[in-house]
Amino acid sequence: MNITVIGSGYVGLVSGTCFAEMGNRVTCVDIDPVKIEKLNKGIIPIFEPGLETMVLKNVKNENLFFTIALDKALQNSEIVFIAVGTPMGEDGSADLQYVLAVAKSIGQSMQKRLIVVDKSTVPVGTADKVKATIQKELDARGSDLEFDVVSNPEFLKEGAAIADFMKPDRVVIGTDSDYATEKMKQLYHPFCMSRDRFISMDIRSAEMTKYAANAMLATKISFMNEIANICEKVGADANQVRIGIGSDKRIGYSFIYPGAGYGGSCFPKDVKALTKIAKENCYNAQLITAVEQVNDAQKLVIAQKIVTRFGEDLTGFTFGIWGLSFKPGTDDMREAPSIYIIKELVNRGAKIKAYDPKAIDEAKEHYLKEVQNITYVTSKYDILKDSDALVLLTEWKEFRSPNFEEIKTQLKAPVIFDGRNQYNMFSLEKKGFEYYQIGKK
Ligand SMILES: NC(=O)c1ccc[n+]([C@@H]2O[C@H](COP(=O)([O-])OP(=O)(O)OC[C@H]3O[C@@H](n4cnc5c(N)ncnc54)[C@H](O)[C@@H]3O)[C@@H](O)[C@H]2O)c1
Repeated sequence: MNITVIGSGYVGLVSGTCFAEMGNRVTCVDIDPVKIEKLNKGIIPIFEPGLETMVLKNVKNENLFFTIALDKALQNSEIVFIAVGTPMGEDGSADLQYVLAVAKSIGQSMQKRLIVVDKSTVPVGTADKVKATIQKELDARGSDLEFDVVSNPEFLKEGAAIADFMKPDRVVIGTDSDYATEKMKQLYHPFCMSRDRFISMDIRSAEMTKYAANAMLATKISFMNEIANICEKVGADANQVRIGIGSDKRIGYSFIYPGAGYGGSCFPKDVKALTKIAKENCYNAQLITAVEQVNDAQKLVIAQKIVTRFGEDLTGFTFGIWGLSFKPGTDDMREAPSIYIIKELVNRGAKIKAYDPKAIDEAKEHYLKEVQNITYVTSKYDILKDSDALVLLTEWKEFRSPNFEEIKTQLKAPVIFDGRNQYNMFSLEKKGFEYYQIGKK
């Protein structure tokens, strides 16, 4: 099939590349000429495991193209995906300006029947707005071209995006058109060979499914963090409680690790947007509001532990940070807990030495650009010398089983703050460390 994907970020680039991998002819469009120029030179603007190899292979095979020219891309396309950002607006709702700008351009440029697919995460009712926007442009052109609007929310996880897309748990399609359903089934068939993963529903339910999924996962995280905070007060160990409850199949082990809170480009904005959607429809989403509040507070729990240990004024202290990205396997720092924790420590006078396998450029160029007193290093052990403590904030694999002897010799004193509860199995106290974690005194 001939496909256009509009928006070549984490979702658009991965989706487009995976469709190309299955033999489709895909054109990825972006409004950012620098990004497109880089992609046309074989430079991948984001880090995602396996993506670079797959992009280069499909470009070489002439299945994958990059352009800023939407009208040309649409000339031969049967299906166009909208995969642009839907960031948090000032009032907490999803900002639809990019989605609707794209819808307008589609209405102005399309030359044949099209299936328009919303892949961006959008509030319930957005498909109607996209439809109306395209129709308005067609009417202005005096055109009677047909088109269908489909909701196809994306569930990939950064860090495992290629694997998630190639073998999805489910493909949710919301549409009232049999023609579009059939075409979407054909497109996704190669991804669902071993069993039927196609879930067809009405458009509004598909739009809501994405928010419900993210809110559920965020709820599990905030729930466990709240339990961890209570554990600490009553002298229980949240790690043991986690194992105790996870063994119940109805609860399960995933998403119940106590930690420094969730971040990233999706959970924070989608949880907020869902409370806003509820409010606009005269419903007070108390539970989901609390999920967000618990998370906001959780981001600073490790900083509070540092203050309790070193004092309110951190002038003269240096902290070595392992991990800046919001989770392992990505260079994405959007809403990462590290941003909040580092700013809190620096505001109290501390100096920071930071290491991350992939996110240092993002930190330097965007998210911590204005923050003074940070030194970035290129090897994880280099942060230790002259540091008063090691602070683990992202659970990258290379931090899982470090050389504790080296940590102990290099640090000024053997103090570890573990924001991801990675080291509770290592009996660090017996190894002579002062060890602080979430959910245990
Ligand atoms: N990142 C994830 O893990 C993830 C997972 C599932 C769903 N989503 C959703 O997918 C959507 C995209 O997220 P993302 O992380 O890929 O965003 P992103 O910021 O990485 O990429 C968006 C891209 O769209 C481009 N763009 C903006 N306006 C454009 C226009 N008019 N024409 C062409 N390109 C335009 C931007 O330049 C950018 O490259 C969001 O709604 C997000 O919530 C993201």
